[in-house]
Formats: sequence, structure tokens, C-alpha cells
Amino acid sequence: MQKILYGYDNVAKALEEVGSHRYMLVCDSSFQYLFLKDELKADVVFDQFTPNPLYEQVCRGVDLFNANGCDALVAVGGGSTIDVAKCIKLYCRMDPSRNYLEQELSDSHVPLIAVPTTAGTGSESTRYAVIYFEGKKQSVTHSSIVPDYAVLEPAVLKTLPVYQKKCTMLDALCQGIESMWSVNSTEESMLYSRMAIQGIMNHRHGYIEDNADGDARGIMQAANYAGRAINITQTTAPHAMSYKLTSMYGLPHGHAVALCMPEVWLYMYENTDKCIDKRGREHLEYILEYLGRLMQCDSAYKGLMMFRAIMFELGMTLPSSNDRERDLNILTHSVNPVRLKNNPVPLSEDAIYHMYDKIVD
Ligand SMILES: [Fe+2]
Repeated sequence: MQKILYGYDNVAKALEEVGSHRYMLVCDSSFQYLFLKDELKADVVFDQFTPNPLYEQVCRGVDLFNANGCDALVAVGGGSTIDVAKCIKLYCRMDPSRNYLEQELSDSHVPLIAVPTTAGTGSESTRYAVIYFEGKKQSVTHSSIVPDYAVLEPAVLKTLPVYQKKCTMLDALCQGIESMWSVNSTEESMLYSRMAIQGIMNHRHGYIEDNADGDARGIMQAANYAGRAINITQTTAPHAMSYKLTSMYGLPHGHAVALCMPEVWLYMYENTDKCIDKRGREHLEYILEYLGRLMQCDSAYKGLMMFRAIMFELGMTLPSSNDRERDLNILTHSVNPVRLKNNPVPLSEDAIYHMYDKIVD
């Protein structure tokens, strides 16, 4: 069971609790600006990886970890950094002479402490990691890579650029909403989704506009709840549709997902009769009404309009294309049907095309 602790001073406490003698710090370039850098004197540091980490980079991290006889991992950074540490944990006891992606996964029992420096992906509390092998996205999933400790330090959010704050906050909001309507939702995941959405709705103004302490804490907590929610349910159609927008137009993940969200939401609202959730159409209609209330509105429809209003307020623009017809076709065929299976309303190719038609300028 993961432990959630608040404040940087708990990193040392967590290391002591797991009995580490020599840990490896996995961090990115933002680390040098954090006050944690003075408190964490790591014996071994690994920062040789890119924002969309490559398999080869992870392998170098595994070699460094083993060559130095490390016994624990501390990851300080955004989603990619935490994902790299998760893969090092997973691969460090496997056969280095063979491709790790082809080997059977098992728990290495190396303690992993995650310290997120953004509030969005929730990677500090999920069993997922994304890396790239030969240009292709690889989703690595294993229950053992949920970090043993998530240490949350909201003060770190205050120095994030405002656009990054908006994108990561929207990622967390979308993860909360998608988890809520996912066909895999449970009572526990719905509780986390609720906490995530309410937290973001209550703290979004203060977080973005005033940079207030209490609001940063509220958003960091909400993003963590959203991570815990999708750890149970996985994400749904807006995430599945977002990946190609990111690679095609270079849009940050949260921005791309948030552009897809209202289109999918509207389609679901209008097509509850096509619901495939085993709990039936009534369950989906109840969830959409409930989401409306969580968005601080009095109906399902107004809830989705509120999402549009937030996007407008945050100034989230549409990507523009030089060749719309070509782009719309590429985008439509990019959506992996397997990834759509968590969505309670199936999306036909035609429906997806029409959604992208509204997203691309
Ligand atoms: Fe996401």
C-alpha cells in the first residue's frame, strides 16, 4: 500500500524507513532550482533522458543503478522522470542481455519514492509508465511500479510557468472526469475522481491567478487523487484521441486531452442509448448528471458547457492545420480502438472524424 507524505523533509524519512544505504536519484533539469537539492545528497544521480524518455536511456539508468550497487530509487520531477524511475525499478533485476520489453515482468522489490514537481499526470500514484522504443510509444504497466511513497510538496508548483500549470491542471481534471465515466469505475475510483474534480474546481482560480499556497496544495492533492482514480480505471476516449494531436502539432499532453474532452462529452451526452457499460444507460445518465454537479452546475449539459467555459477562460487555443483534410484522416486513423474500450459509449470512425473536425482549426 502506497504511503502519501507531505513536505520535502519526508524524503529522508522515507529513505530511512526503507533502510536504504545507497540510493539513485532520478531527476530532470528542474532539480537544480528546487530547494530539495540541498537536502538530498545523492550518491548516484541519473538525469540523462529526454521528456519523452527512450528505451535506450532507461537501459543506461538500469546499468548505472546496478553498477553502483544501489538499493532504492528517488524520482524527483514530472511524469516522464517518474516513469523512467518506474522502468528502472522494473528492469533492474532482469536479464540485461535481452530486450526488457520482451521479458516477463515481476516485482524487483526495489523501494521507489516519487516526488512530483508538477500537478497533473498523477504518475506518482499509478502503475503505468510510458517510454519510446524505435519511435513507438510503449505503455509499461505493472502493479509493482506504483511508487512505495509519494511525497507531495506543493511549494514547488509556484515556480511553474503559467501555461504548464494550465496544461497539467487540465490533464488532472480530464483524468478525474474520464475515470468517473469509465466502464472500469468502482466505488473507490469514483471517490478519488470526485475528490479530484472538486479539488480542481475549488482551487483552479487561486492556483492559476493568485499562486496562493492553499490552492497549490489543493491542486497537488487533486492531481494525486486523479492519478489514483486512473490507476484503477485507466483513461478513456479523450486520452486515446489526444496522443496524435500531441505528436502532430506538438501540443502538451494536458492541452491535447482537454481539446478532445468536450467533444467526447457532448457525444456521450447525446448518445447514452448506445451505452455499453454493464451497469446500463441509467448508470451513465446518472454519472453525467453527477459530473454536472461536480462541475458546480445544475444539469449534465451545463457541466460540459462549464468545461468549455474553463477552456475559454484559460485561453486554450485550437491547433491550426495547413491541410485539414489530410490531417483529419491521419488523426481519425490514429486512434487505437483497443484504448477506446474503456469508454462507455463506443465511438465510430465517423464520430471520431467529426470530433477532430471541431478540434482542428
Ligand atoms: Fe493524462
